[in-house]
Amino acid sequence: MSAITVRKIRFPFDALPPLDGSDEELGSLLPVLGLSLTMPYLEPYLIRTMNAALREITDTALAEDVRRFAQQEGHHYRNHAVFNATLRARFDGATAGRLQAIEAELEDDYQRFTRDRSLRFNVAYAEGFEAMTCAGALAAAAHGAFDPGSGVPGGELWSWHMAEEIEHRTVAFGVFEHLVGSYPYRIIAGVRAQWHYLSYVARFAGEMSRALGRTPSRPRSAMHREVIRRYFRTWSPWYDPATIEVPPSVPALLARYTAAAEHVRS
Ligand SMILES: [Fe+2]
Ligand SMILES: [Fe+2]
Repeated sequence: MSAITVRKIRFPFDALPPLDGSDEELGSLLPVLGLSLTMPYLEPYLIRTMNAALREITDTALAEDVRRFAQQEGHHYRNHAVFNATLRARFDGATAGRLQAIEAELEDDYQRFTRDRSLRFNVAYAEGFEAMTCAGALAAAAHGAFDPGSGVPGGELWSWHMAEEIEHRTVAFGVFEHLVGSYPYRIIAGVRAQWHYLSYVARFAGEMSRALGRTPSRPRSAMHREVIRRYFRTWSPWYDPATIEVPPSVPALLARYTAAAEHVRS
């Protein structure tokens, strides 16, 4: 019996409101929108990695979690792809074209990683991404960022997606430990993966801020400081996502989306 529930949900997306917040608000928001733009390329890459890993995994409970992880990620990126079309439409054609050119470059990288890099590297990339994302999602949940009315464009797409990232936080780590199990490699390859991933997020955010004619500033909220603190804890040799305490709002969100889903695999 897996603790991971697969929820098929499709969110409606309204046209984006004007992106006219303060420099600090944009400094927080544009990278979040950049995250969304990576998802239709990153998450299929994670799924390809997990499908390759499945051929090597000998633990049946872990294998079932891996299948559910892949199904959750599949629903995530399909929603983000629809939202991203709404996001690109917020900008002029030239900007939308430049965003799509960066998307094509990212897709090329991930196809090359699947084709040419070792399973060890791809599993470490997956865990590097998952550990970083879970740190961010937990900090955001602890600071109420997913509470109703938070106002991030894309609405509940984010609270659903981040709650499920927390729900499946043990899977990539479990696969890494089962198939690779090297602490130095987890950190070295994980940090390189995070740098690769975040460089694309920064390029997307930069393209959008140029199009808006704005210079966003670095966010300095208590939530952002907690993201950094939680992220550095993932570098510990004793890091284990199974032992992380989850804010009580997260199980409540998961129950809400189980009830709202078109189809549930529990
Ligand atoms: Fe995801
Ligand atoms: Fe994930």
